[in-house]
Amino acid sequence: MTKPSILVCRAVDPKVIERLEQHFDVRSNQADEAWSREKLIAALQGRQGLFATGGERIDADLLKACPQLRICANMSVGFNNFDVEAMTAQGVVGTNAPGVLTETTADFGFALLLAAARRVSEGERYLRAGQWKRWQYNMLVGHDVHGSTLGILGMGRIGQALARRGHLGFGMKVIYHNRSRLEASVENETGARYVSKDELLRNADHLVLVLPYSNASHHAIGASELALMKSSATLINIARGGIVDDAALAQALRAKRIAAAGLDVYEGEPAVHPGLLAVPNVVLAPHIGSATGPTRLAMANLAANNLIDFFHGDGPPNPVNPEVLNGLVA
Ligand code: DGY
Repeated sequence: MTKPSILVCRAVDPKVIERLEQHFDVRSNQADEAWSREKLIAALQGRQGLFATGGERIDADLLKACPQLRICANMSVGFNNFDVEAMTAQGVVGTNAPGVLTETTADFGFALLLAAARRVSEGERYLRAGQWKRWQYNMLVGHDVHGSTLGILGMGRIGQALARRGHLGFGMKVIYHNRSRLEASVENETGARYVSKDELLRNADHLVLVLPYSNASHHAIGASELALMKSSATLINIARGGIVDDAALAQALRAKRIAAAGLDVYEGEPAVHPGLLAVPNVVLAPHIGSATGPTRLAMANLAANNLIDFFHGDGPPNPVNPEVLNGLVA
């Protein structure tokens, strides 16, 4: 029996390629060449599956050009690279990789929060530039994390993992806003109290964004939201670029409207708004929230599981448009 043919369009752990090769005819981009969209479409010709990393736009035009494609498996929890409506209309399954990166990403959220609130990057730049001549009582004074109020916008798995860290580890008061309120048992366990978005913005000492990107969450934090925040507040974005209006944030940081920010994601990344590069009170990371060896391997293996289970007819574990699988789409 001929094996289904799949494309792995970016470099991934070779162990995952070996695993995929047991099930599929695999073409992979292990050289991690920067493929244009045309090159991606050309490489997809005649292939039924795509192993994607979350950065490849899968829309109606691509699907039209690749009529054999049946499944796109992201090795990321975010799937804003998918035009889910177009995929569903074409009967193409999309899958993501939730769960396996929760704790690692929550750790990184706290890394950015601590670094921004306690001015770690500023301090390192100061030291490396040879500016540290003597200790001063008011040198690089930041804001406390322990005992402060942690605000979380978006209370899925990662939001809850952040809440636990804040509540149990740092003795923080935790408030959150989410599309839907958590069950009382989860609120009790995470120590989190549901508040309106307005209350969240006004009362958080440190606000972490963990909501998915969609049209509805585009610029969920812009100039008017930043204007509601405490002038001592820290804003952390580990979710997706576009949730924050980066130009408005750069302006707020420059004007010290808020104290600091920590960012892992950007509008139009890998480009970063020049206003953010120009201000000292922001910690900038290149989208590495899930970047530990075991977690990246687990993410890739989960994407592989989705492809393997789909082609074995078992149903992939993490469909984002399960209605395609249910055969509800003509
Ligand atoms: C995710 O899984 O969505 C992370 O942001 C890595 O892309």
